[in-house]
Amino acid sequence: MSKTLLVTGSSGLIGSEVCEYFARELGYVVHGVDNNQRAVFFGPQGDTRWNQRRLEQGLKGFSHHELDIRDRAGVLALVRSLKPSVIVHAAAQPSHDRAAAIPFDDFDTNASGTLNLLEAARQACPESPFAYMSTNKVYGDAPNRIALQELETRWDYADPAYSHGIPESLTVDQSTHSVFGASKLAADVMAQEYGRYFGMPTCCLRGGCLTGPNHSGVELHGFLSYLVRCNLEGREYRIMGYKGKQVRDNIHSLDVARFIAAFAQAPRKGEVYNLGGGKANSTSILEAFGIAESFTGKAQAYSYVEQNRIGDHICYYSDLRKLRNHFPSWDITQSLVETIRQIVQALRDRPHV
Ligand SMILES: NC(=O)c1ccc[n+]([C@@H]2O[C@H](COP(=O)([O-])OP(=O)(O)OC[C@H]3O[C@@H](n4cnc5c(N)ncnc54)[C@H](O)[C@@H]3O)[C@@H](O)[C@H]2O)c1
Repeated sequence: MSKTLLVTGSSGLIGSEVCEYFARELGYVVHGVDNNQRAVFFGPQGDTRWNQRRLEQGLKGFSHHELDIRDRAGVLALVRSLKPSVIVHAAAQPSHDRAAAIPFDDFDTNASGTLNLLEAARQACPESPFAYMSTNKVYGDAPNRIALQELETRWDYADPAYSHGIPESLTVDQSTHSVFGASKLAADVMAQEYGRYFGMPTCCLRGGCLTGPNHSGVELHGFLSYLVRCNLEGREYRIMGYKGKQVRDNIHSLDVARFIAAFAQAPRKGEVYNLGGGKANSTSILEAFGIAESFTGKAQAYSYVEQNRIGDHICYYSDLRKLRNHFPSWDITQSLVETIRQIVQALRDRPHV
């Protein structure tokens, strides 16, 4: 049987990495779906056409499909015609701040778009592993209720129950999610349901900060990519609350793609995983400034506003034990420092805005 992969959001950070990994390392024929909606959401700096061209020019056997995942009939027709052996759904409106201004576009893309893909898969290829890129915002701001300790440059959990990070058992209920977190949670629950109710091999990957050299970072989305861009351009980075000590765990897109490949090889039904860099790859904003500066030699300009983003996590890093337990051959291979080095290099080299 031919190995065919369908990736939505194929011009974005995760989608493009998945396309490359499955084509180059695993010999898949790859079909990408993207309509450059990121430029509509975020303006020219969010434009992902450069990445689409990179795949079209450099990836043998790659086909781009200019399709909006909100187009139900179009999605059904494409999935029926391809009957892909694996589906990776990474297209989204990905910013919690942006979602508040465009709630219909956000929900139609994140929730209904995911349903369009799940239902198309159920009709055309129900046996094919289906990985949905979810988010840690499904937990809303529940992580902020965990007792914290303030260290010199970061917050950390004071409660030893969370010394490994946030597990998948944390409640997703009765907290502030942002409009984005709510639309992603709707899709997350639906992807689980297609696993549990229809028996399909689906998983929800609740991402921490997903990052890497091919992100089109903007202030509202793409933390490290945007931070490095500000540093290189001498632009002021605006810290929003929490003293700049807010902590994120960062995972390189390559390690995300490797995990999806491991899942596709040995899929389970309706699973959820917290997929982040874990404690070892966590950083506060202040600490990330220092790492970026060490590669660029430029001091980071920044300003500080007291008001934090609504529902923003103070400290979040993923507990990776379930991932490692289910897929012992998988682990993080790209350190935080190496990832930032690659982002610096890529932004210096990138032939676009
Ligand atoms: N980057 C992160 O830090 C992060 C964290 C947690 C979860 N996630 C999730 O991972 C997934 C991938 O994130 P990313 O960082 O690669 O995002 P990205 O914005 O770089 O890529 C998403 C791509 O989807 C495309 N897209 C958006 N709406 C579309 C539509 N209606 N039809 C077709 N294409 C459309 C965009 O043009 C873009 O190229 C998303 O679901 C996101 O919510 C990302």
